[in-house]
Amino acid sequence: MCAAVYVLSTVTGYVLTSALLLKCPSLLHRRKRQTFLGRHISHRGGAGENLENTMAAFKHAVALGTDMLELDCHLTKDEQVVVSHDANLQRSTGINAYISDTAYAELPPYLCKLGVTFQRECFCEGGEDKRIPLLRDVFDAFPNTPVNIDIKVNNDTLIKKVSELVVKYDREHLTVWGNARNQVVKKCYKENPRIPVLFSLPRVLQLLGLFYTGLLPFVPLKEQFLEIPMPSIITKLKDPNNLTRSQRFITWLADTLLMRKALFDHLTARGIQVYIWVLNDEEDFQRAFDLGATGVMTDFPTRLKDFMDRNGISKPQ
Ligand SMILES: *[C@@H]1O[C@H](CO)[C@@H](O)[C@H](O)[C@H]1NC(C)=O
Ligand SMILES: *[C@@H]1O[C@H](CO)[C@@H](O)[C@H](O)[C@H]1NC(C)=O
Repeated sequence: MCAAVYVLSTVTGYVLTSALLLKCPSLLHRRKRQTFLGRHISHRGGAGENLENTMAAFKHAVALGTDMLELDCHLTKDEQVVVSHDANLQRSTGINAYISDTAYAELPPYLCKLGVTFQRECFCEGGEDKRIPLLRDVFDAFPNTPVNIDIKVNNDTLIKKVSELVVKYDREHLTVWGNARNQVVKKCYKENPRIPVLFSLPRVLQLLGLFYTGLLPFVPLKEQFLEIPMPSIITKLKDPNNLTRSQRFITWLADTLLMRKALFDHLTARGIQVYIWVLNDEEDFQRAFDLGATGVMTDFPTRLKDFMDRNGISKPQ
């Protein structure tokens, strides 16, 4: 009897403490210092409005007032850090070669028209600018714009060079970096812990495990950015009739587990920003902000800007 009461009160105590700390994390954790707030984030510079990852795209997004540029990095054969998404150049330039096997001066230009990954049957026609830029070009052009860097390959030299550039341009407070792979994020953090990192995919799964067991409020987190997809957009990218029953179930389950306001509220109260990708229509923008996400990553910066202006979603000061 006594033991049962003891166990019950312990469990109740745990549940209550966990619930309290979920709501008020500052009782246990110091809120992370935020040097910028990303509400409006341009995915690959806005891959639906300009050729992805080009200076033209970045200029357009910054002129529009985007809060943050999202981009991808690779290392060329002569060890230049370039901004491009795929390791292989086939999709984007029509030439079957790897960036890592090509010197910077030999990189081919992008094709005139590129498919937009997160918009069904959509192609973006670019203007004049088809050049694969250096990361340095982006830093030179936009010294005050936060940049969100996906380190596409697990290559120590790449990580080191990106860190050196960030330091040289005095942008540690304007940068977030990482990748879905935990090994890459660990290396980034080790290389330069002053540049904030995002949650890798294994860490996102761990985060969910902690959240659903009630342990999350007790656990310290080194990451400062949670960048996750909205799983339900899969049904827009594919013909819903083309998804099998189990694919539809998994999509529903992932969406239900991941899109939690209580989780987002807890993280943002700890100073961890929550970004949802890649959203390209108003229904999804609305849902993300309703769920308490800090920001939305989009291929259509103009569309997101119009939506935010009309709905009075504040720009960071
Ligand atoms: C990193 O990339 C450079 C340039 O592509 C390459 O020469 C080097 O072998 C790579 N290092 C590792 C460890 O993969
Ligand atoms: C749906 O699946 C069929 C058969 O696999 C395929 O031919 C068709 O292109 C698919 N449609 C879409 C929109 O993906």
